[in-house]
Amino acid sequence: MTTDAPREDLLAGLSFPPGFVFGAATAAYQIEGAVDEDGRGRSIWDTFSHTPGRVFEGHTGDVAVDHYHRYRDDVALMADLGLSAYRFSVAWPRVLPEGSGRVEQRGLDFYRRLVDALLEAGVDPWLTLYHWDLPQTLQDRGGWADRDTAARFADYAAVVVDALGDRVRHWSTLNEPMVSALLGHVAGEHAPGLQDPVAGARAVHHLLLGHGLAAARLREAGVTDLGITLNFTPMRAASDAPADVDAARRLDGQQNRVFLEPVVHGAYPADVVADLEAAGAPLPVRDGDLEVIAAPLDWLGVNYYFENTVQAGPRPAGKGPSPFIGGHDVVELDPEGPTTTMSWGINPEAFTEVLLWLGERAPGLPLVVTENGSAWADEVDAEGAVHDPERVDYLVRHLAALTTAVDRGADVRGYFAWSLLDNFEWARGYAQRFGLVHVDYETQRRTVKDSGRLYADLLRRHRERA
Ligand code: NOJ
Repeated sequence: MTTDAPREDLLAGLSFPPGFVFGAATAAYQIEGAVDEDGRGRSIWDTFSHTPGRVFEGHTGDVAVDHYHRYRDDVALMADLGLSAYRFSVAWPRVLPEGSGRVEQRGLDFYRRLVDALLEAGVDPWLTLYHWDLPQTLQDRGGWADRDTAARFADYAAVVVDALGDRVRHWSTLNEPMVSALLGHVAGEHAPGLQDPVAGARAVHHLLLGHGLAAARLREAGVTDLGITLNFTPMRAASDAPADVDAARRLDGQQNRVFLEPVVHGAYPADVVADLEAAGAPLPVRDGDLEVIAAPLDWLGVNYYFENTVQAGPRPAGKGPSPFIGGHDVVELDPEGPTTTMSWGINPEAFTEVLLWLGERAPGLPLVVTENGSAWADEVDAEGAVHDPERVDYLVRHLAALTTAVDRGADVRGYFAWSLLDNFEWARGYAQRFGLVHVDYETQRRTVKDSGRLYADLLRRHRERA
């Protein structure tokens, strides 16, 4: 596609399948704040963000965008934007402050109020059970490196579905287990901040096992719309040299295929199993686990942001710690061309490719884009507006890329922009703004950005056409 046409015109020309879901997404720790309220326990992100040196300028999620108190206004904002759906996560430590055992009713009540407000506003709730905020007590007992955490996750899923199953239709188990496992346990850039490849491989398997065990509990409770959210980063070899091609294969194996294949086919990719064993970090699979992990799903959640170009060879010092298991002999090159403030490249063509590739790898499984978006240095101007032409451009080009994939046969049922609001961007703190809505962190004032307005226009047109 060409991007020369005015963005608004381009957007007007796009058409989406009937019933296509348009939403926006958030996650509990990134927006809620109120970390000490209503009996909430601590999570690994409380610990991590309060550990000096872990998060940009010592930022924490203590207050975040105060969504815990402002959820009614935020839901009203969603309705104003015309969102048909909202993807959010439940904080495990609000519901089970010690990770298992005692249920904190006040935590469940918050999500019940939120869901009721959404339903009243005509916004369909899409609930994610785990968006990285493991209760600290479970981390103290080994966290995801320990097999028992998978069983505790399933118990937690049962508690939440028991409380909200009558009003929430769309359920997702995990968000981006790759990031939990590899950034959390290998690179150490995310909580719990380990640099331990053996723990990383164990976390990969136990997260997936937790997904399968939780899926079974959700089905028992009558859930009929169930998915998991995986993130996909296409890996291109920096050259045709066999070493680079192999480096791209290995990174693709550890970051994409090791999560997708067991979930949709009940088997780990043989090359990844061999690589991890050679690295002394095997997947701790027991008999029957893969059948549990391959629980039937109704949709696959796809998070897409950028592609990587991969080279074999030593990692330059400035690159930061590697999330790769098996030595520091694989390096993601800096993207060519413009980048977002995250230093991520902008590759809408790769988005089309990912969706088509998933259509081939998981035939018959509907896809839902559960996240896509970009961070920019947005500011409120003197007139009180936020002009974010780069985000508008990113949004339009990625929506166009999605429709290209649909035209070529991909079964994509929905798109959730990341994010509804500017929020706590994990190790990058509040310095990175992904929202369709700007948040002034001093006053908590919300201002819809140009991208948010454009998205609202698109949604209105889509509804009128339906
Ligand atoms: C994926 C994560 O799910 C989300 O929490 C994060 O903020 C975005 N990517 C942007 O990095």
